[in-house]
Amino acid sequence: MHVQMKILLASIMMISGVAVILMFSLSWNQKDQGQQLLLLTGERKQELEFLNFIAQHGRSYETKEEYEFRFDVFLQNVEKILSFNLFQSAEKGFDLAVNQYTDWTNQEYSRILGFKKVNNTNSSKEQRNQNKPNSHINFESKFDITRDRNQSNNSIFDVINWVDKGAVTTVKDQGNCGSCWAFSAVGAVEGANFIRNNSLQEFSVQQLLDCSKQNAGCNGGLMSLAYQYLEGSQKLETWSDYPYLGYAQKCLYDNILGQVSILGYTDVQPNDPDALAQALMKQPISVAVESDSLYFQFYNTGVIQDITCGNEVDHAVLLVGYGHDYLQGVDYWIVKNSWGPRWGEDGYFRILKDSIKGPGICGILTEPSYPILI
Ligand SMILES: *[C@@H]1O[C@H](CO)[C@@H](O)[C@H](O)[C@H]1NC(C)=O
Ligand SMILES: *[C@@H]1O[C@H](CO)[C@@H](O)[C@H](O)[C@H]1NC(C)=O
Ligand SMILES: *[C@@H]1O[C@H](CO)[C@@H](O)[C@H](O)[C@H]1NC(C)=O
Ligand SMILES: *[C@@H]1O[C@H](CO)[C@@H](O)[C@H](O)[C@H]1NC(C)=O
Ligand SMILES: *[C@@H]1O[C@H](CO)[C@@H](O)[C@H](O)[C@H]1NC(C)=O
Repeated sequence: MHVQMKILLASIMMISGVAVILMFSLSWNQKDQGQQLLLLTGERKQELEFLNFIAQHGRSYETKEEYEFRFDVFLQNVEKILSFNLFQSAEKGFDLAVNQYTDWTNQEYSRILGFKKVNNTNSSKEQRNQNKPNSHINFESKFDITRDRNQSNNSIFDVINWVDKGAVTTVKDQGNCGSCWAFSAVGAVEGANFIRNNSLQEFSVQQLLDCSKQNAGCNGGLMSLAYQYLEGSQKLETWSDYPYLGYAQKCLYDNILGQVSILGYTDVQPNDPDALAQALMKQPISVAVESDSLYFQFYNTGVIQDITCGNEVDHAVLLVGYGHDYLQGVDYWIVKNSWGPRWGEDGYFRILKDSIKGPGICGILTEPSYPILI
């Protein structure tokens, strides 16, 4: 039964593959797919869209029931995406698209959002700052950060882009695991290590998943607790020495392979966009956002600038820059996600950077922190 279903699907896909690619590759790959999809109505077309989705994202459903359930979820999500793009995207400044989460229910999607409030007294700011005063560390960046043509006298630069500086590794995909906290922490260490050592190394997310015991592996965690793990005698191994599996297992840390540890970490003053911009001038910063809305599940391109996403942060990401969108006339933060390079803007998203003190859009100003390298 299963095999037959797969063979059937495979042959449908092969037979219709060329036609599907010709007819739909435009609409699925381009950023203005919303309008194109409108032209496609009727059940046959919907099924072709779904088969194309299956091919693009390598899905194989085990049973006919599963196929039908996923098809149904897919259609409902496409409907939401189209409706948002038609009626809201112009006003909101960004649009949505079909992506790898389009056959997931919002509930299933919520499970990969792994930024959790872990109950740990040692993660309280007061206590940490008593133990590890970081203020004496003079951590000046060696890099001449890009300035805008307007050389303002402001100590905050007009443009920062750590991706362009070479401080950011390729976008990874956390898969079906709430490991965003580990990706965010590792990304911040990678950036700091690049700045200190002048070489970009990819470090192990899996090591944090397996070995940072105060965190909860795929069930979520906090960057601060990951940093606490790295403050000890454990050094972070490279991504290739301790590769990513997408599920937690026994800790396989090998101290001979350890490459980098940290002196400590520091919280950026929360709810303060200027403090965050200042910190970002030094290095990429771990932040968290509330991302349980459609906005993130299907984000495609543009600057997210809508407060209705909330500020109960549930997803950890890496802040890597800011800039100005001349078309929309808004400043934005540039943020690296861990949902693969096909999500959003090549794996990144942009979100409004205004000067208002408070949680910021989707709570992005609420939990910024960064590691300090030895
Ligand atoms: C923290 O732990 C205490 C005692 O174990 C518990 O009473 C409290 O509800 C916990 N708080 C959170 C936010 O989980
Ligand atoms: C807090 O830190 C102390 C010493 O650093 C340690 O003994 C204790 O177990 C920690 N508590 C928790 C809940 O991790
Ligand atoms: C900043 O640059 C823009 C366009 O490049 C220019 O129109 C504007 O006058 C500049 N502002 C200042 C303060 O130099
Ligand atoms: C920058 O500030 C200094 C001192 O406040 C002032 O002398 C200088 O003219 C300013 N430069 C520009 C480009 O505004
Ligand atoms: C530091 O740089 C050297 C030389 O480029 C490189 O061999 C080494 O792996 C780097 N170490 C880390 C931890 O990035």
